[in-house]
Amino acid sequence: MVPLATANDNMNVPYDSAGQSTGSLPLFLVPDLEAVILTDEHSRIFTRHFEVPSIPAITRAQKELVHEQVEAFRAANVTDVGPGKIQFTELNMRSELTAASTGAIGIRVATYESTDFGRSTRSLTQWYDHNGSDVRGTRDLFGSHEDWAQFKEFVAQAATTDPRIFVGELLDLDDSWLDSVNFDLQGNALVEFDDGQIDATAEEPIIFKVSARNLAGLLSDFGTLARAASTSPSPRIQLGMLQDAGSRLPPVSTNTEPTLPTAAGSGVKLGPAPDEASPRNPVDCTVAKCVALTFDDGPGPKTDKLLDTLKDGNAPSTFFVTGPNAQLRPELLVRMAAEGHEVGNHTWNHRSLASMSSAQIRREIERTNAAITAAIEQPATLLRPPYGSHDSTSDRLASTPVILWDVDTLDWKYRDTEKVINTAVSQTSPGSIVLMHDIQSSTVAAVPRILSGLRAKGYTFVTVSELLAQSGLEAGASYSHGPRPPKPSPAPRGEVRYP
Ligand code: NI
Repeated sequence: MVPLATANDNMNVPYDSAGQSTGSLPLFLVPDLEAVILTDEHSRIFTRHFEVPSIPAITRAQKELVHEQVEAFRAANVTDVGPGKIQFTELNMRSELTAASTGAIGIRVATYESTDFGRSTRSLTQWYDHNGSDVRGTRDLFGSHEDWAQFKEFVAQAATTDPRIFVGELLDLDDSWLDSVNFDLQGNALVEFDDGQIDATAEEPIIFKVSARNLAGLLSDFGTLARAASTSPSPRIQLGMLQDAGSRLPPVSTNTEPTLPTAAGSGVKLGPAPDEASPRNPVDCTVAKCVALTFDDGPGPKTDKLLDTLKDGNAPSTFFVTGPNAQLRPELLVRMAAEGHEVGNHTWNHRSLASMSSAQIRREIERTNAAITAAIEQPATLLRPPYGSHDSTSDRLASTPVILWDVDTLDWKYRDTEKVINTAVSQTSPGSIVLMHDIQSSTVAAVPRILSGLRAKGYTFVTVSELLAQSGLEAGASYSHGPRPPKPSPAPRGEVRYP
């Protein structure tokens, strides 16, 4: 059993005691779960879904949901805004693990969408039952028709007595509205409504609680398993080992209990070791021909390989990590810091900051900094706003320099190694900041030849802070490139030049 009673930032539970979503259960509870990120930087689409090779039903259901919502989003954004104009719409989807055991898995998918028709947030929870071959919904958590009707009545009562909402009579709840039900640590049911369903003016999803006491007797066998997987999550073991299809979970041997992938347990030394790391000679990029390679959205499954390449090529770089990925792979942040790279903040949810409230922006930055600090004992030194979307408010809240770019490899779009190499090598000029994404394997494959190509042109690889060290780097200011050193004079004095 994983001790969730001492839940903290490292062991995020999905909801706090007030029923507020605080994130996700640690993903290692489902050993072969992979968090897959898909992006479209131009349409501002960012999705993070789960794939579990040993449970194809989850992979299928998650992919279908993403596909469905992305297609609907694209279809709703048919406005022709004309060449050269940017359309500020956004789709952000993220999956969170809310329950995990050998018997049940709960995955909540939260969606934020901003289109020509307005903004909305919504959520849906997919349940996996190890006895079934497909993913289940809320209705499967409950027993008979009467049990379900009784549950709906409790929800309607909670809605009726909620001070935020005025309804004169007991709400008649549409079954489809109840598509996201999870459990808190006390075993209460948390029923999440999309905005617009209950209160048209709500900016955030509305959550109603049905107490564990009221739920007694209403849950199906699977619902009971699902609730136990939420209140006492346990590491999942191989499906084939489960002979007992009953409701009792087999005890998990302490020998097989996985540990949180903390930096301390990774076998990598925490933080840079000053006596081992050879300090580089400072480079003055107002004189030398420098380039800062930057990698966003990771660390991902290929980042380890990228770090090997950068180490071999002696190319200090800058990684703008998202909070969930920093939390998922802290050992890679430790490696980045130890090998002379810079770690920057790329926010938690990868939302466009310019469309968020100050409180939301602060939370995006601080949560991510907490995950970075947990790994390398220091917060991010830089911020890269997702999509490069920033304004004076987000710049002020950044409390670090805000880093954009001048060379966009469009690696997320083409996912073509040759194109990434050509763009990075041909478009880089002295002082460039090059945008790439280490979650793209085509990009990771391109880096060896980007290094050799740029080195052949006389470039020195530096981190972003090194690039801007001499020309000035201020918190709250934004930068898209470093100093452009003067070109050496074209011809020595006295030489006669002919036209
Ligand atoms: Ni990004």
